[in-house]
Amino acid sequence: MAPDGQTLAPNVYDAEPIPEAARAEIDRLLSSGDLFRYTAPADAPVALLEAEFAALLGSRYALAVSSCSAALFLSLKALDLPKGAKVLIPAFTFAAVPSSVVHADCEPVLVEVGENYRVDMGDFAQKLPDADAVMISHMRGHTSDMDAIMALCDAAGVPVIEDAAHSLGTVWGGRNIGTIGRVGCFSFQSYKLVNAGEGGILITDDPEIAARAIIMSGAYETNWKKHPGLTNSCAHWQNKLPLYNLRMQNLSAAVIRPQLPLVADRVEKGRAGHDRVAKALNRSAHLVVPDALGPEERAPDSIQFNLTGGWSDAEARDFQTAAKARGVAVQVFGLSEGNARAFWNWQFLGEVPELPQTRAMLMRACDVRLPTRLTEPELDYIAAAIVDAAAEVRG
Ligand SMILES: Cc1ncc(COP(=O)(O)O)c(C=O)c1O
Repeated sequence: MAPDGQTLAPNVYDAEPIPEAARAEIDRLLSSGDLFRYTAPADAPVALLEAEFAALLGSRYALAVSSCSAALFLSLKALDLPKGAKVLIPAFTFAAVPSSVVHADCEPVLVEVGENYRVDMGDFAQKLPDADAVMISHMRGHTSDMDAIMALCDAAGVPVIEDAAHSLGTVWGGRNIGTIGRVGCFSFQSYKLVNAGEGGILITDDPEIAARAIIMSGAYETNWKKHPGLTNSCAHWQNKLPLYNLRMQNLSAAVIRPQLPLVADRVEKGRAGHDRVAKALNRSAHLVVPDALGPEERAPDSIQFNLTGGWSDAEARDFQTAAKARGVAVQVFGLSEGNARAFWNWQFLGEVPELPQTRAMLMRACDVRLPTRLTEPELDYIAAAIVDAAAEVRG
């Protein structure tokens, strides 16, 4: 707040403090040096986190790892896909997603995404017959039509991995996102609802997938015995799978665990903040926030909206500048150089296919962070800055 009572542009990049409750456990770990998840005979912080996260989401098994990218990679490896298997992914996602597919010796097949940031089901249905697996990124928490995707994939016998990196707390038709496909993967990297700097976790109800992922994550020798309920499956796979050593360490779990009880509150605040800003943006003739699909109850910590009504690239750039002059960073996905969410920048894929619908969306879709800690005056400041910047350029 400025001295005259005016709200200054809020800093949307600062994280929230880690709950005080983490301190005692971190001190204990520092003084004992017990940082490796498999040293303690039982109840290591990573093991406790897995039990708590599985209970929170309602899944049978959870495996905490070094990042969501590691969880995506291990999920693909755990499906035991043949080399060169084709994996459908949305063309609107973060570069880590196609990277995980390449890392798993598979081939990503990009599916068109619509103006509402969700998978184009026509393109999906057309590409599915050639696919061996599907990885659905709920990009920025936007949920694609999971009923239609699961119906098509179940009929075709194609396994679905959910990339729920941004979707902790999102619910689809009463089911937690991440529990609908065979595997769900979440991120604890700093710009997510739960912040550990880095970290990820995968959940599944399938004991074979869980056992394979556990062994490959680095549960060497008989360390897998510290994962409950998987004795037969883990004993079967021991020494038959490579060790990629993507484990989480105890300090990360100590930072994450006290944040889990805060998830419900953060979801509620994030949704209220998002909807408040969305309402203001939708009053502008130049901006539109696409509606979520009916079954989705969202858990946003950012907002995406489209520049609507025939903006040129130059105008879209001017809009970014005008918002920045008001202290609000707006990123048009397709206009910032080298953006890792623009599929044409994924040069590591070799030849990237042309996807006109996704490209058109990315050239007018805007991204603004809305951390759940923002106050109503701060949210209103951001909304007004965006609306005024659009009016300055187009008005
Ligand atoms: C959609 C999406 N999937 C996966 C990831 C990878 O997460 P991590 O940074 O934990 O590897 C990210 C990272 O932000 C992401 O945006």
